[in-house]
Amino acid sequence: MREATVLAPAKVNLFLHIVGRRKDGYHLLESLFAFADTGDRITVREAETLSFKVTGPFAPICERAGCDGDGNIVMEAARLLAAEAKKPVGAEVILEKNLPLSAGLGGGSSDAAATLKVLQILWKLEVPEKKLFDLALKLGADVPACLLGQPCFVYGIGEDITPLETFTPLNAVLVNPGRPLSTPQVFRTYAGMKKAFAVPLGLDPAANQDMETLLAETNNDLQGAAMTLCRDIQGVLKALKGTEGNLLVRMSGSGATCFGLYGSQEESEVAAAWIAREHPKWWVRSCQLVAEPPFLLSRT
Ligand code: C5P
Repeated sequence: MREATVLAPAKVNLFLHIVGRRKDGYHLLESLFAFADTGDRITVREAETLSFKVTGPFAPICERAGCDGDGNIVMEAARLLAAEAKKPVGAEVILEKNLPLSAGLGGGSSDAAATLKVLQILWKLEVPEKKLFDLALKLGADVPACLLGQPCFVYGIGEDITPLETFTPLNAVLVNPGRPLSTPQVFRTYAGMKKAFAVPLGLDPAANQDMETLLAETNNDLQGAAMTLCRDIQGVLKALKGTEGNLLVRMSGSGATCFGLYGSQEESEVAAAWIAREHPKWWVRSCQLVAEPPFLLSRT
């Protein structure tokens, strides 16, 4: 393989409970991660040295945030993997940034995970799976789950992952009000609220979970904290709740993106079109959360 383009899917936390806190300040989670059939795209090409470029609709925001160069998590992932290669490696890496930044959709984490996976193929490395997951965790708490890239229960700070045995695709609408939210700041605000930790549900991934019941009985524990930092979230939730056929409306991750779930693709598309029309400045996507998002989109 000389060149490949892969999908770094958007991540959605169908629920996110905080069940404790480690001594180092990291919060312990119980969360259900799912992945969309849409996201960023990463192209890698054989090259002597490592180079990086960002394209796509969110490239200008990436530039303004100063994450369009070596500091991007994609380059961090590439350098971490290169250090494992034990031979000279290089690649031209192009990130097509389609997802909003600092949005609770795991954009950066998913980019990092996809970079590890695709560069391992390009560089013909055989990094053991456990090592790859360790590298992923060094890059961020959500990166190991993104490396799996399939619906999973996530525990610990993100390192303890159990894939679901079955997952029926869910029709979703993702809505972001266009304001970045800093994950550390949301967690700090949550901690300041001194809420009681959630009691772990102890879910059995092998059991055929009734998704509707599970989602109805769960929450996103960061939603209240995020809402104090970003008033727009309330408007986003309201807009989603105002759409016909919505089954569940909730924030993803540390926000500010919220999602709505629908019984059919037609309903999610109509809902997305309506919200986009009413709020032209918001980022709105109709998508499916799937059992196995596509990875390799093209290769030569
Ligand atoms: O690991 P990541 O860089 O994504 O986390 C960003 C910040 O969010 C951490 O430094 C920490 O402050 C907070 N965080 C947390 N508990 C988690 C994940 C992240 O407190 N499980």
